[in-house]
Amino acid sequence: MKEYTNYPILRYNTFGMDVKTSCFVEYSSVSELQSFLSAKEYSLPLLHIGGGSNLLFLSDFKGTILHSAIKGIDITGESDEWIDIKVGAGEVWDDFVSYTVSKGFYGAENLSIIPGEVGASAVQNIGAYGVEAKDIILTVHTVRISDSSERVFSNEECRYSYRNSIFKGEMKGQYIVTHVTFRLRKSPVLHLSYGNISSELEKRNLSPSLANIRDIIIEVRHSKLPEPEEFGNAGSFFMNPMVSMQKFKQLESEFPDIPHYPVDENTVKIPAGWMIDRCGWKGRNIGPAGVYHKQALVLVNLGGATGKDISCLADEIIKSVYEKFGVDIHPEVNYIY
Ligand code: EPU
Repeated sequence: MKEYTNYPILRYNTFGMDVKTSCFVEYSSVSELQSFLSAKEYSLPLLHIGGGSNLLFLSDFKGTILHSAIKGIDITGESDEWIDIKVGAGEVWDDFVSYTVSKGFYGAENLSIIPGEVGASAVQNIGAYGVEAKDIILTVHTVRISDSSERVFSNEECRYSYRNSIFKGEMKGQYIVTHVTFRLRKSPVLHLSYGNISSELEKRNLSPSLANIRDIIIEVRHSKLPEPEEFGNAGSFFMNPMVSMQKFKQLESEFPDIPHYPVDENTVKIPAGWMIDRCGWKGRNIGPAGVYHKQALVLVNLGGATGKDISCLADEIIKSVYEKFGVDIHPEVNYIY
């Protein structure tokens, strides 16, 4: 186990906030984590991070930041149709996706190059191009902070919904994810209808093979989202809000070209990026905090921004979207005080 005090966490948050934590602890096995928790010698609050790709630090962190270095990608079960793969929470998410594509297992390919680590994928229910982590998660292996006991959650018990799970909701701060078991398919079940994936494949005359889908998604994401090395960012800053059908009809009569995704018969999801763009924010900035010029859903650190700079910009954006559309948008990024 590695333990540091007054530790800089610049490289543990993709927004590039130059802040410190009172204590930083990295463990590499379940037993190491259990002994650390049982000793109860850590300073509170406790914050568990993954790749730091969904965090906004508003100040130095006065407590203990935990990070998993639990590795391993192991096949734990198999039938003619599916394969179960247990992955350590500290594996880089895209290393796992790349492994599944190279082995010919279907299900994770649309989630290519989402930043972050495997443990966080199960907490956050990451998603892209019509697929969410919940679609391939079989079980989530955890340790309870209060008594170090192990518990395996079934997919159902995780109560997954859009960018949400029990670990962000009613059991927030109670369990630490140590491994995730994914169930992938051995034969194709492709999700190509979302966005421009199939048209991009057709344009290049490419068959929808696993490798081709992965390549196209990497290309599309690179063209829309900034690399953290270029501008600090945390991917989509806001969640796409859900509105009632009645509210949607009212918006549609005023803005006939409004993009939307039906959720169920009474609910519609509206892209926050489109609304922010329509409010004229794309490419604008307040000091060092900016709205990415190719995708209005992404806020960027133009250089030397503080968490406060980014949160002030976010507040202004939330205000203008509400004034123009009467819709409340909420950050997807977790604010850490
Ligand atoms: N749009 C605009 N202007 C913009 C941005 C978007 O008009 O500046 C419009 C687009 O033209 C499109 C619609 O809004 O009609 C939706 O945009 P897009 O398909 O780019 O996806 P998104 O809703 O902005 C979501 C996820 C992304 C994920 C993509 C692709 C959320 C909050 N974000 O973005 O996830 O990669 O779909 O599936 O659900 C992330 O969570 O960090 C992330 C990048």
